Amino acid sequence: MADHHRARIEFDPRFTVAEVPDRLFGSFVEHLGRCVYTGIYEPEHPTANEDGLREDVLDLVRELGPTMIRYPGGNFVSGYRWEDGVGPKEDRPRRLDLAWGVTETNQFGLGEFMKFCRTVGVEPNMAVNLGTRGLQEALDLFEYANHPSGTHWSDLRRAHGDEEPYGIKLWCLGNEMDGPWQIGQRTATEYGRVADQVARSLRMIDGSADLDLVACGSSSRGMPFFGAWENEVLTHTYDSVDYISAHAYYHPLDGDVVSFMASAQDMELFIDGVIATADAVGAKLKSDKKINISFDEWNVWYQTAPSGERPEPWSTAPRQLEDHYSAMDAVVFGSLLITLLRRSDRVTAACLAQLVNVIAPIMTEPGGPAWRQTTFFPFAEASKYGRGTVLNVNAASPGFATAKYGEVSALHSVAVANEDGSVTVFAVNRDLETPMTLEIDASSVRVGDVTVSTLTGERDAKNTLDDPERVAPVANTDVTVKDGTISVELPAMSWNTIRIV
Ligand code: AHR
Repeated sequence: MADHHRARIEFDPRFTVAEVPDRLFGSFVEHLGRCVYTGIYEPEHPTANEDGLREDVLDLVRELGPTMIRYPGGNFVSGYRWEDGVGPKEDRPRRLDLAWGVTETNQFGLGEFMKFCRTVGVEPNMAVNLGTRGLQEALDLFEYANHPSGTHWSDLRRAHGDEEPYGIKLWCLGNEMDGPWQIGQRTATEYGRVADQVARSLRMIDGSADLDLVACGSSSRGMPFFGAWENEVLTHTYDSVDYISAHAYYHPLDGDVVSFMASAQDMELFIDGVIATADAVGAKLKSDKKINISFDEWNVWYQTAPSGERPEPWSTAPRQLEDHYSAMDAVVFGSLLITLLRRSDRVTAACLAQLVNVIAPIMTEPGGPAWRQTTFFPFAEASKYGRGTVLNVNAASPGFATAKYGEVSALHSVAVANEDGSVTVFAVNRDLETPMTLEIDASSVRVGDVTVSTLTGERDAKNTLDDPERVAPVANTDVTVKDGTISVELPAMSWNTIRIV
C-alpha cells in the first residue's frame, strides 16, 4: 500500500454543471425525540425568546446556514392531525404518536414553525399526511396556510394571529409511503393515485407556477421495489408534481469503515437510478418535462445504536436517535455533500436529516448549553462557500479497495465558482490511512490568496457536552502555489475547504 497519494484536478469556469440550487442546503425538523421540544423550542430555557425558541440554538442554526426546513415529518406526519397544533395552546390535545411510540403535546405546531422559519430566514417545506389522512385534510391545511382570507380555514389562521398567508411553496405529498414501518403504508399504485389527486387539487387552490410538489420516492435504494416504485408513482404523477424524493442514511455496517468512507458511491448510484427511472417515465409519456430529485433526508445514522432507542412508552420528548458524530462521520458526511453538489443539475433540493438533537449537527441539553457536532462544520462551510455555479471537474486519483463498492477513488471533490469571482474546492481524502498531495490546476482562474480549512482527527473523536470543541476545522498551511498549480496536503480521512480568492 502506498504511504502517500498524489491526486490532481482541473476545471474551467466556462464548463459548468449547474447553478447551485438554493434548496440544496435544506434541513429537517420532525416531531421526534427532542428535535422540537428542548431542541429548537423550550420556553423555560434561559435563552428562550418570546416565542419559546432557544436563542442559543437560533444562533447556531444561522451559523449552520440551512436555506429550507422540511416539517413536521418524517414518519410522524403519517399520523398527524395538523389542526391539533394551531390555536390557543391550552386547548391543544395531547395525542399518541404511533410513529415513535410517544405522546405529542402539540405545544408546537404550524404557526410556531412559521415563526421559526421567519426568525432564521429559511424557506418552509411542509409535508401533508397521506398515511391516516388524504385529500380533504391536505386541502384544508393548504387553505389554512396559503389562502389569504374569507374562508373558514383562512379566517381561522387570521383568528390565530397570522393575518398574512404563509405562502408555502414547497410541499411533500406524504412521507416514505413504501415503508412497512409507515402508518398507512400504500402500494405504489394507491399512493401514485392519491398523490396525483392531492397535487392537482392543491393547484386548483393556488395555480401559481412556482408551487413545487414532491412525490415520495423509495425510502432507500435498498428497498425491494426501488425503481419499480418510482416508475409507478411517476406514471401517475408525472404531470402534477415537480420532484421525486430520495432518502439515504449511512453507517458502517458490520464495522466495515473502509466501505463506509465510500458511502457517496451509493448515493451516486441512487441518484443515477432515480434519474434514469424518472426520465424513462418522461420518455414513455412523450413529455419534455424533467422531474428532479428532492433528496429530502440524508445523513450518517447509526441505526443499530442502542442509546435512546427505546423510550419509556408514551413519554413526551424523550431522547431518541441522538447520535454523537465522530471526525470520521464528519468526513463521510462531507463526501455526501460533495455528491449532492456534483449532481445539482438534477438534485435541486435536499434536506440534512435532522436539525437538532435527532441525528443532528446541533445538540442541546434541556436548560443547558447547545453545541456543534462534528458534522456541523462541513455543512456550514458548504452552505457558506458552495454558492454559485458547480464546475465540471476532471480528476485523477489513486483508488482504494472496498468490500462494498470495489475500487473507489481516494479523492472525492467538487469545485464551485462563487458569485464574487472566487472558486471553492471541497475535497475529501477518503483513505483512512494514507495522506494525499492534491494538485489543483488553477490556470483558468485568477489565483490571489489560497486558504484551506481542514477537518480531521482521531476516528472516534467527538464533540460532547463535556468537551464541545474537541473537533473543528483548522487552518491548513501546507499549501504552495506555483505556475498556476496549487498543491495542498490533505491528511488521511479529511474534509477540506480550499478557497481560491
Ligand atoms: O429522520 C428519521 C426518520 O427516517 C424519518 O422520520 C423517516 O422519514 C425516515 O425513515
